[in-house]
Amino acid sequence: MFEDINNSGDGGIYAELLQNRAFQIVDPKNQTAALYAWSPVGDASIAVVDDVPGVSAALPNSLSVELDSDGSAAFENTGYWGIKVDSSWTYKTSFYAKLASPSSSSDASLSASVSLVSKTSGTVFASHTFSSLTGEWKQYSIGLTPSTAAEDLQNSFVVQVSGGRGGEKVLFGLFSLFPPTYKGRENGMRIDLAETIAAVKPTVWRFPGGDNLEGQTFDTRWKWNETIGPISERPGRQGDWKYLNTDGLGLVEYLDWCEDLNAEPLMGIWSGYSLTKVAVAEEDLAPYVQAALDQIEFVIGDVSTPQGALRARYGHPKPWSLKYVEVGNEDFIIPAPTTYAAYRWKAFHDAIKQAYPHLKIIATTRPVTVLDPPEEYTDRHVYQTPEWFSKNAGRYDNDPRPGPLIFEGEYAATSTNSSDILGAFSNGRLRYSTLEAAVGEAGYMTGLERNSDIVFAAAYAPMLENIGRTQWTPNMILFDAGSVYPSPSYYTQKLFSTHRGDIILPVSSNDTAPQTFTYVASSTDSQVFVKTANYSPSPISLSLSLDGFKAKSATLEYLTGPHSQASNIPGKEVLVDIAGPFEVEVGKEGGVVVDLPGWSVGVVIVEV
Ligand code: AHR
Repeated sequence: MFEDINNSGDGGIYAELLQNRAFQIVDPKNQTAALYAWSPVGDASIAVVDDVPGVSAALPNSLSVELDSDGSAAFENTGYWGIKVDSSWTYKTSFYAKLASPSSSSDASLSASVSLVSKTSGTVFASHTFSSLTGEWKQYSIGLTPSTAAEDLQNSFVVQVSGGRGGEKVLFGLFSLFPPTYKGRENGMRIDLAETIAAVKPTVWRFPGGDNLEGQTFDTRWKWNETIGPISERPGRQGDWKYLNTDGLGLVEYLDWCEDLNAEPLMGIWSGYSLTKVAVAEEDLAPYVQAALDQIEFVIGDVSTPQGALRARYGHPKPWSLKYVEVGNEDFIIPAPTTYAAYRWKAFHDAIKQAYPHLKIIATTRPVTVLDPPEEYTDRHVYQTPEWFSKNAGRYDNDPRPGPLIFEGEYAATSTNSSDILGAFSNGRLRYSTLEAAVGEAGYMTGLERNSDIVFAAAYAPMLENIGRTQWTPNMILFDAGSVYPSPSYYTQKLFSTHRGDIILPVSSNDTAPQTFTYVASSTDSQVFVKTANYSPSPISLSLSLDGFKAKSATLEYLTGPHSQASNIPGKEVLVDIAGPFEVEVGKEGGVVVDLPGWSVGVVIVEV
């Protein structure tokens, strides 16, 4: 599950390095906020203005730079809490500029240079100078290749204007500093984060939220059509997690990313409900239903349709894959179910089903409300204690079959205090995922997998946290501008997701192990997987006999750490990690015995 929270999109998976790159949605009346991440170098005078036409109608704000008496000025952007300078990278660098009041007599000597500079040592790693700025908006672009790597992340992007007239103003807009991206995609993803996620081999990718789909108002909802096309045409929005979403990471980027991951998109549709608990009235809903149909048409419509043609114009004539759409987010939270059940679900569901009968449409109200038409797919969320997860491995064992197919769309152990699951750190909230949390989640996941006849997908949430903006904890993968810090929960996801059987195997047991030991078995044509979660400090010796299979060899991998509360804290030693694979002896009868540590998540892989 992905949404832009904790700067997981902008400043995260979306590789752009400059924060507040186009002064989107800011109000020049508040210069401190409008200049976020920007500052003058020396005594330069800079301000965000909206009284001259910006780079485009979508980007009305510009940066006005007043040159000092010697005709120069400089300013900088410090990125998303630092900028990584890597000498093996070429940074695609660009900006728009124009002179506010051009003068043919002296402007020929005016130049603007862009540089990557260390704030620690002053070293200039790379620089380029553009001359001949004009009175019209023009984009200036260059690849910057640093001569050496920076020793730390305290680096900035500096713009130096020189050779102008004292008091003259130069306007700038839409800056960009892009490192190489995952699979070389234009406007694409940060490589180290993308590789860390890809290593889990996710098969479903839910976007764009989460709360971040919804908007505090109808107007600040995620609007798919404002997230496509050239980035100069994307206005950005006030995200629901209280910071600017540039929407550089837009619908096209999400879908390309799903393609790169080999994951099925699970696309959110705005369901006529804002986070301030207001629903669109029934008689006003039609345009929003049409917007949802247009969104789907953009993704999978034929090029002869208006939105399919738009997609082709943006360079993607081939439809993307799309099987799942989700109507809303958490419409189980009162009072959303009332209007969802009364008219919102039916309006969106029926229109989508009629136009696209093959799509699987996911509802979000279960178990609160009965829907008409009944949902065939439902998204359920659970944030709980590690112990709750371990004890609830059987949660879906007795659900009705057939019943709606379940997407366990958000789950995580967030607190050790069952009375305050989303409370403060002082009251049990986890700052970081712990080994105990990861083992508890693994126990629950053995149950999700055992019930995969009705649980068709599951996702930990939230996925990413830039440690410069921590808004929700814990998260699966933490990062800063230079490094990635996978959590214990990440390793549980990885162990389970990269060892998938096609068939769930029946298991019988004569063990006397405590209920804190949970397991599930599955097979492919050539392998049997036995996944275990030992939610206890005591080691367990597990003796397996595989009826109906001839074991040839076996290996064991497990997640473990020094104690149950161990975490992987950014910048500190990695305490919780996957150990193995270790060879395991196969007995004469084809049986396998493995020793599992206390507080561990294990996978036994048997070649058959
Ligand atoms: O995962 C964080 C938030 O938790 C999501 O935005 C929301 O859907 C849920 O309440």
